[in-house]
Amino acid sequence: MNIDVILSPPEIDLLPQRDLSTATVVVFDVLRATSSMITGLAHGMTEIFPARTIEEALELKTRRPDAKLGGERHGDRIEGFDLGNSPLEYRDLRGERIITTTTNGTVALRASEGAREVLVGALLNMNALVLHLQKEKPSELVLVCAGTFRELALEDVIAAGMLCARLSGSPSDSARVAEAVFRRHENDLLAALSSARNGRVLLGKNRGAEIEWCAQVSAFDVVGSLRDGVIRPLSARG
Ligand code: MLT
Repeated sequence: MNIDVILSPPEIDLLPQRDLSTATVVVFDVLRATSSMITGLAHGMTEIFPARTIEEALELKTRRPDAKLGGERHGDRIEGFDLGNSPLEYRDLRGERIITTTTNGTVALRASEGAREVLVGALLNMNALVLHLQKEKPSELVLVCAGTFRELALEDVIAAGMLCARLSGSPSDSARVAEAVFRRHENDLLAALSSARNGRVLLGKNRGAEIEWCAQVSAFDVVGSLRDGVIRPLSARG
C-alpha cells in the first residue's frame, strides 16, 4: 500500500486533477467537521450531505426538505441553520439526515470525490479505520488533512500520522512527516489539540469540552463513507 498525505488546503485544491480512481482517501478535519460526522453516525444519524458552500447547502435543502441544515462559518452556527458544527450537538440526531457545510471539512470531502472510496477520518474512529484498511488493502491510500482556512492544521496532521503509524505500507515523504508529528505529540493528544490554532479558538469560545471530545481515540466503531454526495456508515452500504 502506497501511503501519501495531503498536508494543507492549497494541495487539496489540486485533488480534483489527480487520478484517484484506484485510491482510498481518508479525510481528517479533527476540529471539528469529521469528528462531528463520526459522532453523528455513531449515534444513529443516517445520512450526511456535505456541501461546499452555504448556497449549495440551501439548494440541497430544497430537494431534501426533511434534512436538517448544519455547519459553521468562523466556528459559529450559520444564521437560519438548525445546527452548528459541535460534535456534542451531533449526539442527539438519531434517524436524522443532515446537510452540512463547513469552512474546510466539507470542501476537502467533496474535493476527494474522484477516489474509488472516500472515508471520514477522526481520532474518534481510528481503530475502525485501521481495521477497514487492513481488510480492504487499497493499493493507494491518500490521507487528506482538511486544514483551517488556507493553512495546515496540526490536529489533522497528527491524526493522519497516527493512521500512518498504525499501517504497514510505503509512506511518501509527507506521510513520514505526518508520522513524525504524531510521534512528537502521541503522549498528550489533548494538549496538542488544545495548543493548535483551532484549539485555541475553541478555548477562547469556552468550547474546551469539544476539544476533549475530539481528542478521544477510537471511541466509536464507525466508518463513514462518501458516495454519490452522501455519507453513510459503511455497514449501511451493505
Ligand atoms: C472546518 O470545516 O473548517 C471546521 O471543522 C471548522 C469548525 O468546526 O470550527
